[in-house]
Amino acid sequence: MSGATGDTRSPFHFNSVEMREAERAFRHAYPAFESTSSLDALRAREYARLDDLGQIYLDYTGGGLYAESQLREHFDLLRRHVFGNPHSLNPTSRAMTELVERARTSVLEFFQASPDEYAVIFTSNASHALKLVGEAYSFQPGGQFLLLFDNHNSVNGIREFARAKGASFTYLPVMAPDLCVEEALLRSFLEQGANGAHRLFAYPAQSNFTGVQHPLEWIEAAQARGWHVLLDGAAFVPTNRLDLSRWHPDFVPLSFYKMFGYPTGVGCLLARKAALTTLHRPWFAGGTVWGISVQGDGYVLLSGGEGFEDGTLNYLNLPAVEIGLKHLAAIGMETIHQRVRCLTGWLLDTLLSLRHSNGRPLVEVYGPHTTDRRGGTVALNFFDPHGSMIDERVVDRRASEMRLSLRTGCFCNPGAGEAAFHLSKETLRKVFHEESRDTLPQLFKGEGGMSWDQFLADLGMQSGGAVRVSLGLVTNFADVYRLVQFARTLLDIFPGESDLPPRLHC
Ligand SMILES: Cc1ncc(COP(=O)(O)O)c(C=O)c1O
Repeated sequence: MSGATGDTRSPFHFNSVEMREAERAFRHAYPAFESTSSLDALRAREYARLDDLGQIYLDYTGGGLYAESQLREHFDLLRRHVFGNPHSLNPTSRAMTELVERARTSVLEFFQASPDEYAVIFTSNASHALKLVGEAYSFQPGGQFLLLFDNHNSVNGIREFARAKGASFTYLPVMAPDLCVEEALLRSFLEQGANGAHRLFAYPAQSNFTGVQHPLEWIEAAQARGWHVLLDGAAFVPTNRLDLSRWHPDFVPLSFYKMFGYPTGVGCLLARKAALTTLHRPWFAGGTVWGISVQGDGYVLLSGGEGFEDGTLNYLNLPAVEIGLKHLAAIGMETIHQRVRCLTGWLLDTLLSLRHSNGRPLVEVYGPHTTDRRGGTVALNFFDPHGSMIDERVVDRRASEMRLSLRTGCFCNPGAGEAAFHLSKETLRKVFHEESRDTLPQLFKGEGGMSWDQFLADLGMQSGGAVRVSLGLVTNFADVYRLVQFARTLLDIFPGESDLPPRLHC
């Protein structure tokens, strides 16, 4: 057995003297890193399994990592009490209700959100929170849904609710090379469609593809022009402070496992109470109704957030949310942010400086090349000495052999990928055109159906997307140094490999 659970010998051989020298130079270039040294001690104490197992984890945008103390504290709590399904008067239920409400309060406190202004709706993840908004938003003919090319598919999917209700939707392009939005273009779009119909503007505070941090100032700019603002916080909040006493987006979806690793299966929608009253849920469920009659054929939804929590909450896991938030607060979001900023800066500088012997660059980074207006998510591709893109599956396979966890593909963010790879609307329309939209799934299915590989080739793609490296809470210099050493193994070679697994989907 090897990898995540067994053989602990690191397959990574490198010169530790050289690493120490590189770290000295890094610390000199990024003196602010020193202020984050508490995280090195924390890693040794609470995340020792990473180094014990020789794992180099660089997929924090995929999922965060938990500290051992989070598990201990949660399991101790479960071991020491008897908890029942909340929202009843019996003692075990009451004990649970109290902890559920404490978790809710801790979310508000963590984000400095006033309980008068915001409600916390617990969901199973960020996608579920997004669906709650999409399905209940008052889209109507004349209404608008404005969103960026650079959005996760769970935001893109809201366009189908808009479409079904006759509202129009508009995508704002992100522009190469930085893959940011042109401010003037955004302002002109925000001026449009003021006809009294509801208008929703959705964007990620941080791109899960390029790491771009789209300005929080857009929240006020859009609201001042009558838009509701859905700020996707999923990729932003793990390493940045989102202060809801300063910023007032109407809806913020997020997943807790991305912030502190454990538990999975719990997210939330932070919603402004004023905005919640404009939503109309398409159904009711256990837990969401104040009253409902079978014979009377009517129902009254609970007001506020409770009207959105369908059925039984993942209640035993909610105390772990409070524990996780306390863990982050004790470290300090500024410390986490600073650490990730310094390491990302060094990583970008170093990767971009790598050249084959013939002078050609080894990598192309999609998105900003400096730490300005970006977080610690870096998307890139590797190129061989002739300038051909190295298949991302080759990179994945070689990285896995070194116990390096990175991610490849399009990261559920096709729009950022289309912009990064310069795919034209005309090319994409040919495949995803109106008439074939319903038959498209069949196109890919069954005997003789088109494979995803074939589909990508038809689009003119050189690979299946990009390679994503993402830094987080306990990333240290050795992690990013090892990534660079891994990158160096691709210098001056043509790593064609056979037996690559077929790509299954985007
Ligand atoms: C920016 C962004 N939004 C939404 C999501 C969806 O999160 P989940 O899969 O936890 O629902 C993700 C997940 O990676 C994300 O990065």
